[in-house]
Amino acid sequence: MDGTTTLSRTGAGAALRHDSALKHCTGEARYADDIPDVPGTLHGALVLSTVPHGRLTALRTEAARAMPGVVAVLGPRDIPGENDVAPAVKGEPLFAETLVEFAGQPLALVLAATRDQALRAAAAVTAEVEALEPVLSIERALELGQNVIAPQVIRRGDAAAAIAQAPRRLSAEFRAGGQEHFYLEGQIALATPGEGGDMTVVSSTQHPSEVQHLVARVLGCDFNRVTVTCRRMGGGFGGKESNASWVAAAAALGARVTGRPVKLRLSRRADMIATGKRHPFLYRWTAGFDETGRILGLEALLAADGGWSTDLSGGVVFRAITHALGPCDVPALTLTAQAVKTNTVSHTAFRGFGGPQGALLIEDVVHRVAAAAGLPPEQVRARNFAGVGGNGEDTPYGQKLEGDLIARVWAEAKRDSEWDRRRAEIAAFNAAHPTLRRGLGSMVLAFGISFGIQHLNQAGALVHVYSDGSIRLNHGGTEMGQGLFIKIAQVVCDVFGVDLDRIAITATSTAEVPNTAPTAASTGSDLNGWAAHNAAVAIRGRMAEVAAAKWGIAPEAVVFADNRAWAERAGANRWFDFGELAKLCFLERVSLSATGHYRTPDIHWDPKAMRGHPFFYFSYGAAVAEVVVDTLTGEHRCLRADLLQDCGRSLNPAVDRGQIEGAFVQGMGWLTCEELWWDAHGRLRTVGPSTYKIPGSRDVPPVMNLRLLEGAPARVETIFRSKAVGEPPLLLATSVWNALKDAIGTPALDLPATPERVLMALRNRG
Ligand code: MTE
Ligand code: HPA
Ligand code: MOS
Repeated sequence: MDGTTTLSRTGAGAALRHDSALKHCTGEARYADDIPDVPGTLHGALVLSTVPHGRLTALRTEAARAMPGVVAVLGPRDIPGENDVAPAVKGEPLFAETLVEFAGQPLALVLAATRDQALRAAAAVTAEVEALEPVLSIERALELGQNVIAPQVIRRGDAAAAIAQAPRRLSAEFRAGGQEHFYLEGQIALATPGEGGDMTVVSSTQHPSEVQHLVARVLGCDFNRVTVTCRRMGGGFGGKESNASWVAAAAALGARVTGRPVKLRLSRRADMIATGKRHPFLYRWTAGFDETGRILGLEALLAADGGWSTDLSGGVVFRAITHALGPCDVPALTLTAQAVKTNTVSHTAFRGFGGPQGALLIEDVVHRVAAAAGLPPEQVRARNFAGVGGNGEDTPYGQKLEGDLIARVWAEAKRDSEWDRRRAEIAAFNAAHPTLRRGLGSMVLAFGISFGIQHLNQAGALVHVYSDGSIRLNHGGTEMGQGLFIKIAQVVCDVFGVDLDRIAITATSTAEVPNTAPTAASTGSDLNGWAAHNAAVAIRGRMAEVAAAKWGIAPEAVVFADNRAWAERAGANRWFDFGELAKLCFLERVSLSATGHYRTPDIHWDPKAMRGHPFFYFSYGAAVAEVVVDTLTGEHRCLRADLLQDCGRSLNPAVDRGQIEGAFVQGMGWLTCEELWWDAHGRLRTVGPSTYKIPGSRDVPPVMNLRLLEGAPARVETIFRSKAVGEPPLLLATSVWNALKDAIGTPALDLPATPERVLMALRNRG
């Protein structure tokens, strides 16, 4: 990698358990809410709008102010800086001023001595709103032409002509629902005012730098006044990429105005009502194809429900449109993707970030074309594969899907799952059973790795070696359960040739590593891994010089392994214990601290032309799922899943396996049982686990075979040739949707495929 080979039993590639696994289980792991309150701490509760659209004429707070324990009720006029917490495109007020744009919009913050007092007082605040007509569906917003992100279009060739000239044509419309993140730990921030206008914020956030920026914007101060830390989140899944920032800004506002520490922890209900979710999508397409199932032309609209504001919808739409062909090639196409504006909560990042929604398009096309052509969908998909061995490597946006991994992952998944044998078995079962129907479905994924927004593809790290040889590691990435911290620690172990127990993993802090990107787009270990590597290599180089000078050899001849620095080729057994050498460096007055920085090379994007090379590389995977459906009730379960995921040379196979299992089950929840339901007044009525059903342990397929693709390291220079894993395997759950279509005998199945929708699809099939 960089000349010297290093050795550590706990380095890159070791299948170690999550560094906090035991702490998570015993309760020792500290989350924001576990930090004991400082005397005088106030607790916040939000006042939320109950109407989806209207003019706010008055907010009645007198009753609330008079209630026990209440210290303040803060609204837009109490903000010393800007009333704007938009992460991307300005115009997203922290508290509504004159216009209410969704039911659940924050109107004010109540501060009281206890959380219960704050919640009771918040309920006593009343808003006077002159109602305006709300827009509550994607269709209505399309009719009105109102968008938060204007249509982005990718064109290749003449799609209309290709469709017209194709032997056969097909059109369809379908939809996919959104998804609540349902992180175990809800949104929370604790803001503590310091002297001279300083503000320290503990935030459960994927993006400490953005929390810093938005706190500063709301307070009207420089970034250097605000310090944001996060030791860990109890899950983020994209829900704490932008939404954590406004929660923290509200807490910091309270702390600024009262001069006291303020903790704001949203109730599950408030969290579900007021924070963004995965974008629901509506799809309309027309395809031309031939008798072999080759798709010759495609025109498609992907309309995301952006909700009331832009938030991160630009990036989500970009990822949807660049992933709309999945692993396939279509020679002539016009893809249009946009995010419409509705009077619902502003939809946001969620694992996959529009990629999963994009990939549903091609899966729908493939399955309906297959049904029309009387071919198996797997044959139609493979007929249209991109890549070497398929129809060529070019994507319609200019980047290549290099190599033959698409064909390879599918061939291996088909073999692993004993596809042919089970097809026959399932046919026999279905023939014999009067009401139960089994089905087999598959999925092949190609997921682009890098932030769609160029400048986010960078990271920083700060490494200290102390004079006893212990190491303190800090970087800009955040830990949300995905195992980032241990992966980066393993990278540092590898560089120094030391064991993990020498390394202190520390909380993310804007004071230690500034100007960071969110931990998102699955890039956490790619970016921070290199940054930490670069910092550690800088220190190791200085340590090598000190040792080399002692031994009279070249610094390059010093090897770091087995917790020692060795003079290799020197013949005699010359070595320093790592701590001994650190001490020596200190005595020689050599710095043992370094920052490291990394920026992803070779990526570019032209948003006008909608062309470029936006992804450093692609992550590949394939899956086969088997389901059984009760045709009398529509109920179904996934009986077996065979998952194959390309992790390159995995930094930590144990952690990666956990990511793949979790992503698959989370994706299955999105596609089969999690349903967000807004009533006719635009109020979300699925506001807790009793009405919003996430998958439980019994929904995990009883047979779940999982394999990391072997012998396919990254083609580009990723950290230790590993590949990102956080989001891509969520798409593998699409195999469950496809299996359900197979079981019920129709490709027309809207999402989420709840028992009700499965019954409707069965009835429509006739
Ligand atoms: N895994 C756990 N346990 N908890 C999470 O919140 N978030 C996912 C994924 N895996 C998440 C998770 C999302 S949305 C992303 S983008 C990646 O982790 C981010 O981390 P990484 O870049 O370090 O993979
Ligand atoms: N994924 C997640 N978050 C993001 C992205 C992305 O591609 N781009 C900007 N924020
Ligand atoms: Mo993940 S949706 O990129 O936070």
